[in-house]
Amino acid sequence: MAHTVAGVTLGLTQPVNIEHPKISFAAKEIDAVEWKGDILAVGVTEKDMTKDENSKFQNSVLKKLDGLLGGLLAEVLSEEDFTGKAGQTTVLRLPGLGSKRVGLIGLGLAASSPAAFRGLGEAVAAAAKTAQANSVAVVLASSEGLSNESKLSTASSIASGTVLGIHEDNRYKSESKKPQLKSVDILGLGTGPELEKKLKYARDISSAIIFGRELVNSPANVLTPAALAAEASKIASLYNDVLSANILTAEQCKELKMGSYLGVAAASANPPYFIHLCYKPPSGPIKAKLALVGKGLTFDSGGYNIKTGPGCSIEFMKTDMGGSAAVLGAAKALGQIKPPGVEVHFIVASCENMISGTGMRPGDIITASNGKTIEVNNTDAEGRLTLADALVYACNQGVEKIVDLATLTGACIVALGPSIAGVFTPSDDLAKEVFEASEISGEKFWRMPLEESYWESMKSGVADMVNTGSRQGGAITAALFLKQFVDEKVQWLHIDLAGPVWNDKKRVATGFGVSTLVEWVLKNSSK
Ligand code: BES
Ligand code: MN
Ligand code: ZN
Repeated sequence: MAHTVAGVTLGLTQPVNIEHPKISFAAKEIDAVEWKGDILAVGVTEKDMTKDENSKFQNSVLKKLDGLLGGLLAEVLSEEDFTGKAGQTTVLRLPGLGSKRVGLIGLGLAASSPAAFRGLGEAVAAAAKTAQANSVAVVLASSEGLSNESKLSTASSIASGTVLGIHEDNRYKSESKKPQLKSVDILGLGTGPELEKKLKYARDISSAIIFGRELVNSPANVLTPAALAAEASKIASLYNDVLSANILTAEQCKELKMGSYLGVAAASANPPYFIHLCYKPPSGPIKAKLALVGKGLTFDSGGYNIKTGPGCSIEFMKTDMGGSAAVLGAAKALGQIKPPGVEVHFIVASCENMISGTGMRPGDIITASNGKTIEVNNTDAEGRLTLADALVYACNQGVEKIVDLATLTGACIVALGPSIAGVFTPSDDLAKEVFEASEISGEKFWRMPLEESYWESMKSGVADMVNTGSRQGGAITAALFLKQFVDEKVQWLHIDLAGPVWNDKKRVATGFGVSTLVEWVLKNSSK
């Protein structure tokens, strides 16, 4: 078991435990203009804004609203130049309706993707915050054309967008406003048990994404490897009908010969913890065994190759456990969803990359648990060293497929920018599965080549390999390094999420990875 840091942390910071009021969702089939509450939010495409020869809305929902308001709606919208473009929002305080306010939210030319409807939910959340609304209803101006299946997924995307948009991480602020929103009615997308199930699913995913965000937002003086392990154990005991936890100490990792991981951990006063959670379904046979492996550096100073100079982002390196946040977030979601037919191992070799007299030196040769030796020509390429032993351990669990996630290289951010994760895998089949999952989750990925000829720059004169190749193709050589530690029989896919782990505009974590991982596991279940 991990030692929870009893009482005091460095800097005396303790996150405040904020109770977030639960938002209740209800699917209703009532006429939008009959609805009573604080904001009636209407999702509008550019096409919905078309008017007839008498300058009246053709769309029935807009027409009805405008009629009730004596043409005021059309007037205001044209004054404000609201055309239904994606990202446009306008909220009007209007008398004479059951709803205090009407919000129009632009969906662009034609909204069809989960991401677009999640965006609608986020815009609803923003409007609700501004108006301090307690209750909102969301309706699409045109939902008649939608199939039953897409009605379900649209409702669930709107719901998760709203929950994620309302959430603010105020645990480290001395004062904060409580969010007001308590109820969201989703109109015109059907009712019944199937939809209720989808909404529960949206809630499970959203709470797991929020958990992941909070882990990444937490500073390294609070979220030490021990604290991360304690969070993992907490998840396991919360859902102990399906999850179990095994937390290994440095001593136990030494017995398993994890020299690569322990080399990275060697400089830190905060001891490393190797986290292993296991999901087993409540009943029935298991048809697929999977592993999710996450990089869990609670801080990355670079070590002796310390991160210096402008743009090195050392102050940002509390986020270097973003891969593990996605993995533990997925564990939380699956603990709630409990899919049948699949066993999942969640593995994180957590530690800090620090500097001290006991630390690893540049030039040291370390030995991983599969016996391979590594000349550490750069202590800042530490993530791959921890993942090496984590991947060997994952293979030893007898899994058929492994997905690893890591904030592994700045080079991947240079290649794909801040919002797209790099995917590296020798397996076209596994790539296909993960890309299908990402279509449902709405998260952005791009497949990169695993160019074997680049391995040349990873050769060492004295050890089996070095840990850092040339600057060129840095994300690819990092992935090739990981491949050295995966059994050939096991399908493996690596995700570099150094860019999308963080939202620069909002200055908070994104929770990236959680929903794609969950969708991928569900694909492999017998659901
Ligand atoms: N954690 C970093 C990668 C990173 C950099 C994530 C910037 C997010 C923002 C990783 O451990 C690292 O330092 N990578 C080095 C590798 C290099 C030494 C081969 C890098 O990308 O510079
Ligand atoms: Mn590093
Ligand atoms: Zn790192």
